Amino acid sequence: MKRKIVITGAAGFIGSHVIRLFVNKYPEYDCYNLDNLTYAGNLENVKDLQDKPNYHFIKGDITDTEFIEKLFQQHRFDGVIHLAAESHVDRSIADPLCFIRTNVLGTANLLNAARNLWKDDMEGKRFYHVSTDEVYGSLGAEGYFTEKTAYSPRSPYSASKASSDHFVRAYFHTYGLPVVMSNCSNNYGSHHFPEKLIPLAINNIRHNQPIPVYGKGANVRDGLWVDDHARAIDVIFHKGRLGETYNIGGHNEWSNLDLIKLLCRIMDRKLGREEGTSEKLITFVKDRAGHDLRYAIDPTKLRDELGWEPSLQFEEGLEKTVDWYLANQEWLDHVTSGDYQKYYEKQYQGR
Ligand code: NAD
Ligand code: DAU
Repeated sequence: MKRKIVITGAAGFIGSHVIRLFVNKYPEYDCYNLDNLTYAGNLENVKDLQDKPNYHFIKGDITDTEFIEKLFQQHRFDGVIHLAAESHVDRSIADPLCFIRTNVLGTANLLNAARNLWKDDMEGKRFYHVSTDEVYGSLGAEGYFTEKTAYSPRSPYSASKASSDHFVRAYFHTYGLPVVMSNCSNNYGSHHFPEKLIPLAINNIRHNQPIPVYGKGANVRDGLWVDDHARAIDVIFHKGRLGETYNIGGHNEWSNLDLIKLLCRIMDRKLGREEGTSEKLITFVKDRAGHDLRYAIDPTKLRDELGWEPSLQFEEGLEKTVDWYLANQEWLDHVTSGDYQKYYEKQYQGR
């Protein structure tokens, strides 16, 4: 079946993996990458797709209500996979309003445009909203987030994502918009912007710079290989039940300190450095405000209903991630030039 799908934020980290999967797996779909190319959006992430006949790029801002409305009327999309967002917790602490604009207003604009376009015929239409496990708040040492866990966001980022999730459900219940959602754990892999812990540490180790670990490094995250996330989005988009949420995660829990130590050992080996060299770069710095202690996903519903399983364990995935960054140092050099330096100084100096 010929379908016109708009994938928002597909010049970013996860979106670029999702659109690559869709463009290559479904040549009969027309895939539109709608992205405003903020600091996090980079067309280098999708340069292998630019000559494919079923790939199209539209530069545009999801917070621009009129533009989004016209775009939907013009292209008459029949599927939306919505990833565009401000995604970094530390930036949300510095500038919460920007997160409200993009993540809440931007999502509402897309929902509204889809509702206006599809109101007379919802058959075969689908609005997929990509969300995060952070909406559930912070776990103690025990337990997992399930789809029934009450929302308890604690950062401006997670509060803005929680709010957008509520709007998506409201459009399902109020207008019958055919929505489906997922809440995913921490992704890692290629094309990850080096403001996030793993690529930041890889870049700093490469340059023999301190690796900033917040607090004592005891916070726990549940790592998921980004292509496993993309595969989950594919299966949920096509087979997920309307109005439902699916939690995506791989039971890969690591404390930040253990993760960084593993990364240091891998980097020492790959760079031909004596074992223990990179670990000396670990520097404990002032903790993140309101730092969530632990996230951990229970993916039972997704596995039992739709048969999804993660394909990679963390050690193997991290090794592949390091290989990608070492083979693509030019990419890292491009994204860390210019504004990145200013961001880095502001975020880490005097911490
Ligand atoms: P990212 O920051 O790497 O990419 C975001 C993309 O959105 C960029 O290409 C950016 O240019 C674009 N964008 C931002 N504002 C826009 C606007 N106003 N109009 C149009 N485009 C805009 O983010 P990511 O890590 O790839 O995350 C993608 C989505 O997945 C987000 O919704 C995020 O909340 C969610 N998510 C991320 C993770 C993770 O571990 N990174 C985990 C779970 C869920
Ligand atoms: O859980 C899903 C979320 O994962 C996504 O929704 C977010 O978009 C994504 O950014 C990620 O959020 P985190 O805050 O968990 O990721 P980050 O890489 O920023 O931080 C991971 C952990 O490492 C966290 O406990 C904070 C810590 N950290 C982070 C940075 C940037 C450090 O110790 N030092 C750092 O310099």
